[in-house]
Amino acid sequence: MTSTYRAWTLVRRAKGLPGSDLFELRDFDDAPLAEGEVRVRNDWLTVGPAMRVRMSAQTRGYLAPYGLGDPIPGWAVGEVIASRSADFAPGARVLHQFGMRDYGQGPATAFEKLPSSGAPEHYLNAMGSTGFVAYYGLFEIAKAKAGETLFVSAAAGAVGSTAVQIGKAIGLTVIGSAGGSAKGERLKEIGADAVIDYKTPGSLEEKLAAVAPQGIDIYLDNVGGEHLDAALANANPNARFAISGMIGSYNQERASDMMHHLNRIVTQRIHVQGYLPYSDRADLLGGFRERMSAWIANGTVRPWQEVRDGLESVPQAIQDLFTGGFSGKPLIRLNTEGARP
Ligand SMILES: NC(=O)c1ccc[n+]([C@@H]2O[C@H](COP(=O)([O-])OP(=O)(O)OC[C@H]3O[C@@H](n4cnc5c(N)ncnc54)[C@H](OP(=O)(O)O)[C@@H]3O)[C@@H](O)[C@H]2O)c1
Repeated sequence: MTSTYRAWTLVRRAKGLPGSDLFELRDFDDAPLAEGEVRVRNDWLTVGPAMRVRMSAQTRGYLAPYGLGDPIPGWAVGEVIASRSADFAPGARVLHQFGMRDYGQGPATAFEKLPSSGAPEHYLNAMGSTGFVAYYGLFEIAKAKAGETLFVSAAAGAVGSTAVQIGKAIGLTVIGSAGGSAKGERLKEIGADAVIDYKTPGSLEEKLAAVAPQGIDIYLDNVGGEHLDAALANANPNARFAISGMIGSYNQERASDMMHHLNRIVTQRIHVQGYLPYSDRADLLGGFRERMSAWIANGTVRPWQEVRDGLESVPQAIQDLFTGGFSGKPLIRLNTEGARP
């Protein structure tokens, strides 16, 4: 018997901010469940900035562009509703990448079993690739040490808010950048020692210098452009820059940022490294998850998330990533039965 599912598709390539006109919600048929496959009802979806890169025809070395008219993939957690795999019984909670749709189906190897208790949506946030990026950037790239000063851009976002909390837990002085005073206040509540509002008039370089007269030792870059330039201008000798992403340029055909302080990489002996830990170092996920679940259990890390309801909310959620419309990790709840706020 075939089953149907509803999935978001990209119907035209993005130029600039990804508007709702790029997407259509369409019905698809799944093939009958084959030996070794499972079928899942999705309960939680999420969206992330890298989706924007895949909406362009050219992704410049990143994952392939989305196929026009195809179901858009994405992270999701759900519950197995049918299984032809000995590894998954109906009712099991799973993490997978058949997101942006209400039901997903695929080989058992594409699904990861989650604990049956606790908040499964954390696996789309602090316990998932988001948290892993923050953790890996601080420990594996920056080799952070207590007493150092960390600067985090997009600090009120998913990766950023997790990095702020880990940074405080390990004894760093943490400075976060975010747009707007409400996000700044919340950042202080989760432990930031100082915040800068990049949306108010004035030079970012000077704003950072004012709150970090001691200079910065670590920069976790989520934004690029002027943020990266300001971090270079304020970097201490032997600073480490963990470059997670550059959301500030994802809506531009070509990044047009004017950098003034690149030479500081030489004069300050700065170590600059981009990283994609989920694809490159999945072997470290187990150790990361153990540590993160302890931090969440003892309140050291409080996953920051904003929940919206319904599959229909996906296009607006994608757009809001780029306009500051979300704080923390965007989560889309598909099934409200027994749901937490
Ligand atoms: N390397 C990896 O494996 C990996 C994995 C996941 C994510 N990432 C990268 O990590 C970064 C953060 O991703 P995320 O999932 O945590 O998203 P996110 O930070 O939760 O969402 C985007 C945030 O970025 C800020 N922002 C948007 N446009 C901006 C701009 N032009 N200038 C400054 N801030 C801007 C917004 O906050 P404000 O309201 O403060 O503007 C928004 O809340 C992205 O660059 C993403 O590509 C990398």
